[in-house]
Amino acid sequence: MARATKQHSCQSCGANYGKWQGQCDTCKEWGTLVEEAVSEALPKGLSLGKGRVVEFTTLNTQQADYERHHCGLSELDRVIGGGFVPGSSILIGGDPGIGKSTILLQAVGIMALKGYDCTYISGEESPQQISMRAQRLGLKDSPVRLAASNSVRNIVTSIEKGKPPHLLIIDSIQTMYADNIDSAPGSVSQVRACSQELIRMAKKVNCALILVGHVTKDGQIAGPRILEHMVDTVLYFEGDRGHQFRILRAVKNRFGATDEIGVFEMTEKGLQEVTNPSALFISNQDKEISGASIFAGMEGTRPLLVEIQGLVAPSQQPTPRRAVVGWDSSRLSMILAVLDARCGLSLAGNEVYLNVAGGLRVNEPAADLAVAAALVSSISDIPVPENSIIFGEIGLSGEIRAVGQTDARLKEAAKLGFTTAIVPLGSKIKEPTLKIIEVEHLSEIVSLFTQEKPPVQNAQMKG
Ligand code: TYD
Ligand code: MG
Repeated sequence: MARATKQHSCQSCGANYGKWQGQCDTCKEWGTLVEEAVSEALPKGLSLGKGRVVEFTTLNTQQADYERHHCGLSELDRVIGGGFVPGSSILIGGDPGIGKSTILLQAVGIMALKGYDCTYISGEESPQQISMRAQRLGLKDSPVRLAASNSVRNIVTSIEKGKPPHLLIIDSIQTMYADNIDSAPGSVSQVRACSQELIRMAKKVNCALILVGHVTKDGQIAGPRILEHMVDTVLYFEGDRGHQFRILRAVKNRFGATDEIGVFEMTEKGLQEVTNPSALFISNQDKEISGASIFAGMEGTRPLLVEIQGLVAPSQQPTPRRAVVGWDSSRLSMILAVLDARCGLSLAGNEVYLNVAGGLRVNEPAADLAVAAALVSSISDIPVPENSIIFGEIGLSGEIRAVGQTDARLKEAAKLGFTTAIVPLGSKIKEPTLKIIEVEHLSEIVSLFTQEKPPVQNAQMKG
């Protein structure tokens, strides 16, 4: 039977179908199937005895640690595990306009000034546009090799024929085009083929490769998921465009830890590193305000204090609004349910708003207690104790569970001048300068704030 030469690929997950259908069976997305040419030949049966015997070694093969090129932006260096590893590939994703091109231009600009060979190839902007940006960044005299090209064939030829660079940037992989594939740039098969070709080339010439990837509307890197499997490191550059802070986060790293973040501030001279981010995410602590608590969080190995703001307001709507910025909304529902069922504090007739200040996103369950404190403080209009930080995970029965890295959290709080810490009972405390309030159950937090009647109507404090 003749083999089909066309297939329908899901642009979201990469699944293939013989004919078009409205919904992808694999990822359940609608309208994502696009017709593409079949590129790979069907594998013929492998006959034994024709292959080469692979060489086996043991796990303790003594190998020198990876050689690394430091780019000079220490926040970026740390997130990727301590510099670029030659031959490795990095994918960096993020919303349009968040600053991906800017941070990479700064990285190559600084590295080239230090004597590394750096090449920046853009499929999106002209060399004039890029050099104008470099001028703004104060890097126009940096000896970066700059080109505008969409053709992977031309890029691979230029890199393999010339002197291979230490670092190669491709901005972006969705604009690249491999002429042996019969579909449009940005389609699954183009993205896959172009990345494969570029990653293979980077390994061959031993240069570090950075691919910029666009993200879809729900924040995933556009194109097949396999792109994330193909590269060694996946970074996301995130932040709220209304705020000047940008966070670089590693979600996969074969050469380092994945829970590190780098913090940058977008200024008119490009991205500036923020080496002590804790001070940024908390507002002026001189005035006591209700409905705000300071969470002592961890981002990777680094402690980060963030302000959590809660607002509980009476609602006339049959289904009051619940709005969350910077935190998990199902986790908020859980805390509201625990407050209701275990502490007798029902917020059913109220709108609840929760905001993590500074445009940061908090993922730790350790923030539960800080969230609960901000909400209860907003209901009762009693501020959280002055100069205090708070952390702890809330269980479904209202119990407060201990969390990891207590020491680092408390040390950071003491360093920034906080005097009180509200922590789970049984935390191992070594920080002598802080006054410690240990809590075992969520109701203890509620009773901290219930010396007076709640001013908000509808909020019922039973018992
Ligand atoms: P850009 O790097 O082009 O974003 P991406 O490549 O992720 O799409 O970022 C551009 C934004 O950054 C743009 O909105 C302007 C802003 N910006 C500054 O604020 N200061 C600067 O020095 C530069 C170069 C850009
Ligand atoms: Mg860009």
